[in-house]
Amino acid sequence: MGSLVKEQVWWVVAVIIMLGFYDRGEGCLEEERKALLKLKETFNHLNGSSLPTWNNLNHSDCCSWEGVTCDNSTLRVISLLLNYTRAQELEHFKWSLNVSYFLPFHQLQELDLSGNYLSGLFGEITAENLKTLYLEDNQLTEISFFDVFHSHNSKTLELISSNYSDHGHPESMSLASLTSLRTLSLYENRLKGSLLQQGGLCNLKKLEMLSLGVNMFEGLLPPCLNNLTSLRLLDLQYNGFEGIFPSSLLHSLKSLKYISLQENYFTGVASLSLFANHSNLQLFSISCFKNPNLKLETERPQFVPSFQLKIFSVVGCTMNEASNHRIVPSFLLHQYDLRVIELVNLNISGSFPNWLLTNNTKLSSIYVTHNFLTGPFELNSTSQLLNMQNFDASSNPISDEIPPHIGQVFPNLLSLNMSSSSLQGGFPSSLGDMRQLNSLDLSNNNLSGYLPLKFGKGSNDLRFLKLSNNNLSGPCLPGGSNFTHMLSMDLSNNNFKGKVPDGIISSSELRILELSANQLYGELPSWIGNFKHLGYLLLSQNSMSGPIPESFCNLAELKYLDLSQNRFNGTLPSCLNMPSLMYLHLQGNHFMGPIPSVLAKSPLLCALDLTQNRFSSQIPSWFVSMLNLRVLLLKGNKLEGSIPVDICKLKNISILDLSQNKLSGGIPYCLNNITFGSKYEIGTSLGKYSVPWTTRGSSFEYNRTNGDLVQGEYEQNSSSYEAEEVNFMSKRRYESYKGSILRLMSGLDLSENQLTGEIPPQIGYLDTIHTLNLSNNHLTGPIPETFSNLKQIESLDLSYNKLAGHIPSQLTQLYSLSVFSVAYNNLSGMTPMMKNQFSTFDPSCYEGNPFLCGPPLQRKCSSNDKPAGINGPPYLSEEDGFRVAFLFSFAGAFSVFFLGVVTIMYLNSYFTYYE
Ligand SMILES: *[C@@H]1O[C@H](CO)[C@@H](O)[C@H](O)[C@H]1NC(C)=O
Ligand SMILES: *[C@@H]1O[C@H](CO)[C@@H](O)[C@H](O)[C@H]1NC(C)=O
Ligand SMILES: *[C@@H]1O[C@H](CO)[C@@H](O)[C@H](O)[C@H]1NC(C)=O
Ligand SMILES: *[C@@H]1O[C@H](CO)[C@@H](O)[C@H](O)[C@H]1NC(C)=O
Ligand SMILES: *[C@@H]1O[C@H](CO)[C@@H](O)[C@H](O)[C@H]1NC(C)=O
Ligand SMILES: *[C@@H]1O[C@H](CO)[C@@H](O)[C@H](O)[C@H]1NC(C)=O
Ligand SMILES: *[C@@H]1O[C@H](CO)[C@@H](O)[C@H](O)[C@H]1NC(C)=O
Repeated sequence: MGSLVKEQVWWVVAVIIMLGFYDRGEGCLEEERKALLKLKETFNHLNGSSLPTWNNLNHSDCCSWEGVTCDNSTLRVISLLLNYTRAQELEHFKWSLNVSYFLPFHQLQELDLSGNYLSGLFGEITAENLKTLYLEDNQLTEISFFDVFHSHNSKTLELISSNYSDHGHPESMSLASLTSLRTLSLYENRLKGSLLQQGGLCNLKKLEMLSLGVNMFEGLLPPCLNNLTSLRLLDLQYNGFEGIFPSSLLHSLKSLKYISLQENYFTGVASLSLFANHSNLQLFSISCFKNPNLKLETERPQFVPSFQLKIFSVVGCTMNEASNHRIVPSFLLHQYDLRVIELVNLNISGSFPNWLLTNNTKLSSIYVTHNFLTGPFELNSTSQLLNMQNFDASSNPISDEIPPHIGQVFPNLLSLNMSSSSLQGGFPSSLGDMRQLNSLDLSNNNLSGYLPLKFGKGSNDLRFLKLSNNNLSGPCLPGGSNFTHMLSMDLSNNNFKGKVPDGIISSSELRILELSANQLYGELPSWIGNFKHLGYLLLSQNSMSGPIPESFCNLAELKYLDLSQNRFNGTLPSCLNMPSLMYLHLQGNHFMGPIPSVLAKSPLLCALDLTQNRFSSQIPSWFVSMLNLRVLLLKGNKLEGSIPVDICKLKNISILDLSQNKLSGGIPYCLNNITFGSKYEIGTSLGKYSVPWTTRGSSFEYNRTNGDLVQGEYEQNSSSYEAEEVNFMSKRRYESYKGSILRLMSGLDLSENQLTGEIPPQIGYLDTIHTLNLSNNHLTGPIPETFSNLKQIESLDLSYNKLAGHIPSQLTQLYSLSVFSVAYNNLSGMTPMMKNQFSTFDPSCYEGNPFLCGPPLQRKCSSNDKPAGINGPPYLSEEDGFRVAFLFSFAGAFSVFFLGVVTIMYLNSYFTYYE
């Protein structure tokens, strides 16, 4: 009985074991399965949870695990696609991989370790079958093709560990023995150094694809590369390779299909005729921002190409300087299979190459921006270019009308950019037929007339619309339009009339709305509060009125709000909550009440302009929390009381304007605690900022399986760079400070208040200040001698006060000073010597001080005048003072306003040519 039970148990056990064997017989080799599990452990080092399907449950077949492919007959692993496997959380841990984990995979042909935050590779691997190795998008800093260690065993790749490395760096590796490799991609790492001494690279004679792009390689290219005669793809883009352009190398690599050489330091002349017999060539791409000394020649000698290119891209190069033919390269006349043409920033002149479109019916993208192409701009009205997706002829003096049938010729266009092209005439109605259009930029032209009724009616996918700086009129958007996907709309600087257009009411993703400098009227519609993601709202220079609606309290993502130069009134809603707000421009309106305390909830605020409103009461104490403020303009309000001492805690301010208020009391002694631009703290940005959004575009990707270029669509990230502009009185004129220059500007203006007391000597320690205006107050006492420290000062105005005593003679050391006035005070004694800047000041700088003497004044000094005289009748009459002050310089208003300046759309990216 007992033994029977035992026998049965053994039998069951035997069956289980047999089943186990049976399973394994169907699936992968146990040895490789174990190795994969070990590999998984390494990948998950430090708590990762990658490769969940790689598990021990039910003896699962490892050939079916994610990323693993086995050979059907031998059941051995032949491909490991471990790209983008390591968890992103582990990005910042330095991770080196011991490649001996791959030793058990004797038949491994393909290994992809891209995107794993790898910082090093070490160990040993047998790799006689490895054909494909991808190490893209990692953090490798070193790789070598040294030929030293493997000669005794050609089957073994020695990835030299630190102990053996002959140049002492840990984690360096040599790829020289991988002689079966056909594809090697090291794209987008941090690899440095020269390849010149690393002849081992040339041992990889079967290489067909070699990508070294987006690294930091430098030095000359090894000449032995010409032994890699099977090369079809050579990607050197975005490195620091130097030397004469490798003409003879490229000439000898006759099989080349794809060449990308953008952004290296090549010099000399590159004549494209060297490719004349490369019959396989499909892609040639070069750009020259980093190699301005490279001269590209397409016309001398002329050649008839044996190739049909699919992608031809030349950006920013000096082209055809020697032959002086600044034309669209003539060999393109023989091309009819082009998909992408990019001829950007090449000084090309002549009329728009319409023939490129006619000859290449498969063309999907044309970029001919930043050249000197002129009209006529014609499109063959009987042809339809169904493949055309991206059209960019911006920044050319085309000076023609947009062809009226453009919508029929390009029915599938995704993006159209013809900004800055001197376009005339109207906005063609057929543009409304482009239902796929994502992005339309016709800004900076002379377009006029109404937008056609068809535009925006029915379903459309427009996300980016920029028509700024034209003469368009009528309502902003035609009645009945319904844009549902708009992300960014800029219609500023036109003659649009009417209300804020409700054609965007359904665009719930709207981020940017610019309607400045038009003739809009009416109140702010409360539906603007529905745009939860609105970051930029610019409505300045219109005639809008009424209060800011309560719905603005939903706009929690607002970064930039400019309502300046309108007729808005009332107070700001107390529920406002804009934690991201950085720029607030409300100048030139009728806002009233105290300075809104809701602004205390916007700690990132760096520019606040409330100039010329009716704000009253005192300067609030919560200002001290606004530590990022760099520009604070409160001019022309009804502020009263004294200047709070706490204002000195706003250390980052560089422009402070409190003029034309009713402020009284003394000037705080601590103002020198404010940096006035002397220290620029990172994080308090002022100047350039960018607005990101995403639109669709088309690209070409390299297909790994068949080596072809395939067209794909991609979501592209674009940015519009905008620059904050501040108009600030410096010297005697209003000057605009825009972008990063603004950081350098600094000034303090307390003029036209009722300030009393003496000028604190500490003001003289504001040694970075450019403009100081204390005029039209009731200040008494002397001009502090410390003022001779104001080394950067360009404009110093102390006129219309009750200052007494003599003018410190040390002021002649202010070498930057170009505007100076102490007129209408009680000053006495000698004027400063007529030397340095002071030799340029005329008597009006001193007038109204009857006891001053010496040149340039008529009044000669007597011996009594040498010491400072402080007696004598006060000359100043208040009324006179203001009148003259008006004439003097302050005719305009200080205004800070925003101009949407430069929009750069990266409509293409060379990076996407290869994946
Ligand atoms: C291996 O088998 C799978 C499924 O049966 C098949 O799709 C694949 O083409 C085969 N591969 C080879 C190389 O024979
Ligand atoms: C890894 O690479 C393969 C082959 O190119 C690709 O099909 C796959 O999508 C990639 N995996 C990831 C996660 O990117
Ligand atoms: C490789 O190319 C160089 C010339 O750059 C040549 O001298 C050398 O013999 C070539 N090696 C082989 C193995 O072909
Ligand atoms: C391209 O157009 C030009 C001008 O119309 C013409 O001379 C040339 O033959 C065309 N080339 C091809 C390949 O169609
Ligand atoms: C316009 O296109 C049609 C059809 O594609 C073609 O027959 C005609 O020759 C073209 N006209 C010009 C001027 O290129
Ligand atoms: C605009 O289109 C959207 C989506 O097609 C629709 O839901 C909405 O009602 C339309 N709005 C108007 C005002 O026609
Ligand atoms: C704001 O202006 C409107 C006219 O535009 C006026 O009717 C309203 O009374 C004003 N409100 C305040 C508070 O001044």
